[in-house]
Amino acid sequence: MKIPLLDIPASYDKILADVENKIDQVIQSGQFILGPIVEELEQKISTYCETNYAVGVSSGTDALLISLMAAGIGEGDEVITSPFTFFATAGSIARLGARPVFVDIEQDTFNINPNLIEKSITDKTRAIIPVHLYGQSANMDSVLTLAKKNNLVVIEDAAQAIGSEYKGRKAGSMGDYGCFSFFPTKNLGGFGDGGMVTMSSEDIYNRVKTLRVHGSSIKYYHKVIGGNFRIDALQAGIVLAKLKYLDQWTEMRRGNAQIYNRLFSERGLTNHLTIPPKIVPKHV
Ligand SMILES: Cc1ncc(COP(=O)(O)O)c(C=O)c1O
Repeated sequence: MKIPLLDIPASYDKILADVENKIDQVIQSGQFILGPIVEELEQKISTYCETNYAVGVSSGTDALLISLMAAGIGEGDEVITSPFTFFATAGSIARLGARPVFVDIEQDTFNINPNLIEKSITDKTRAIIPVHLYGQSANMDSVLTLAKKNNLVVIEDAAQAIGSEYKGRKAGSMGDYGCFSFFPTKNLGGFGDGGMVTMSSEDIYNRVKTLRVHGSSIKYYHKVIGGNFRIDALQAGIVLAKLKYLDQWTEMRRGNAQIYNRLFSERGLTNHLTIPPKIVPKHV
């Protein structure tokens, strides 16, 4: 039997009616970019992630880029991040002319090692991007303490970690910005590209919203240079339809991880490879 590592259509039976309803709603509305469905998704994601606000954007990559832009990162700045991540994390820093400064990872979580961060902070450091890789939150206590002490912006790359928690706090709610991806293979994936930035500061919310539409908060008045970072309503509708299943899917995935861990030990495979440490709360 061939068992694919990832089988996206396997979930279709369950969600297709909900998704089709949302697609129909968008088509009937005639509003294909931003609009009420995007606002509904933003409201639901901010509630889910326990932040005051969320802004729907074009991808997880653009979520990182727009957050860095909103934080004013640019030429000559340094941003500390993990070298063990998808390319977009460091790529977004470099695109703005800033320098990604890599701090090595912990061997058990695969996330940035908080004990190594301090010695990489220089007078050019402006921000830290911890990555919550494979659904597990980075060790945020030290990241947040060091950020506060050194006046650094914290942008969480939570592209792979929606619903994940660290000491009871949701991924995307601990830093100044939380960046999520709706790439189809993600835990909450659309049928195309999409992303979200979460935040609790009203000022940051307004900055990100303005940058999303070429720096304009009033149509055709462009106060700053932004970009087209908009999410389309069809993707927002699809993600919205799937959101209500997310916790259930997460629990199923956590259960499967436990089965793998048990079978790997029972069959002696742990003599040949290291399985991840216990499924910490709340690894997704
Ligand atoms: C850790 C991480 N950061 C950023 C991204 C970028 O997200 P997207 O593919 O939606 O641009 C991804 C996903 O590909 C990711 O896994």
